[in-house]
Amino acid sequence: MLKNMLMNRRYALWLGLGTLGAIGALAKGKAMYSSHKTQDFELAKNNFSIAGKASLKQRAAAKGLIYGAAIPRLYLSSDQKLAARLAQECGILTPEWELKWSAGHKPLRPSPDTFDFTAGDWMAKFARTHRMLLRGHTLVWHESLPTWFKETVNRQNAEQFLVKHIQTVVTHYAGQMHSWDVVNEAIEVKDGRSDGLRKTPWLEFLGTDYIDLAFRLAAEFDPKALLVYNDYGLEYDTSHHEAKRKAVLKLLERLKSRGVPIHALGMQSHMDGNEKRFNPKKLQNFLANVADLGLKIMITEMDVTDKKLPRNPVVRDRMVAAVYQNYLSVVLNEPAVTAVMTWGISDRYTWLSKFQPRSDGAAVRPLPLDSNFRPKLAWNAIARAFDKAPRR
Ligand code: XIL
Repeated sequence: MLKNMLMNRRYALWLGLGTLGAIGALAKGKAMYSSHKTQDFELAKNNFSIAGKASLKQRAAAKGLIYGAAIPRLYLSSDQKLAARLAQECGILTPEWELKWSAGHKPLRPSPDTFDFTAGDWMAKFARTHRMLLRGHTLVWHESLPTWFKETVNRQNAEQFLVKHIQTVVTHYAGQMHSWDVVNEAIEVKDGRSDGLRKTPWLEFLGTDYIDLAFRLAAEFDPKALLVYNDYGLEYDTSHHEAKRKAVLKLLERLKSRGVPIHALGMQSHMDGNEKRFNPKKLQNFLANVADLGLKIMITEMDVTDKKLPRNPVVRDRMVAAVYQNYLSVVLNEPAVTAVMTWGISDRYTWLSKFQPRSDGAAVRPLPLDSNFRPKLAWNAIARAFDKAPRR
């Protein structure tokens, strides 16, 4: 009897201490909340409430939209919980590494004369098995090039390598691909060219027409796939993003004027929770200008870096959710926007852990699901954006 009483008293003590601890954390978060000076918190204070139990892919599909995510085979093949939640939430899958020239453990291009489709085929099979659409990322990029590229490809043979790569890879997946990121990140205004083109090996060896050629080849070998120009740094009201929007628009106009078979702009949408310079009107105008070219728009790699946000996860999650809400409410108002994809789906697997780590060492929290695959407020924010989006 006495032992039970002692146990109960100890339990009550733990419970009391635990409650005090939770109140303390919330109070600290609230204090930080109030100490943060921007109006974002006003937005973040909303309750992100959602109705019903529909998944993100169901909410997107109800409006004629597609939701999906990128993930590498390494994690998808070894984490059953991830595989299950990805299939549950996503209507489209982007292999994060497997269709680049060389990324991950089984590179697509092991040598100048060989292709290894093992990893890409595994991802295509996963998508097929779970009735998901498939995205190809990416045929022409200046990153993730194999080590042999530098010492092998030159002005004389670059076109032959480009043609061979696109012909072989696009033919291999012809009929399976919803869309291809044909060219990725070809604009870098800081490189100083009047056309804003990034100084890549492709530009150096083939001139500005490498972009036209890439799209024409992709269309020739898979007439069904949507062909996308994909880039980042188009989202905020900064001078750099404004200059990049102008250069991307100029490139798209040039391609369209030459009858190049391009169907969509991919906006990577790697957002920053700490970036305040967000101007809905300017973003809306850019989207409308792209749509006026007869192009669709896809949000291809969305995440929100919380690197500079307060450590408290309660505060951080609300601020990250507010970014998803603010950005998606603008882009989904543009009828030409057809898909939203996040770069990863769970905080357990995000490139930002390495690319944008927090200085305090806390795990980053940029994605809709937490590291145990539970929905966060970011998930609610995306769900609400789909629920509120005009039907396509
Ligand atoms: C990233 C991957 O997520 C990382 O794992 C890899 O180390 C580097 O590339 N824009 C893109 C993607 O188009 O291909 C990049 O993916 C992220 C930025």
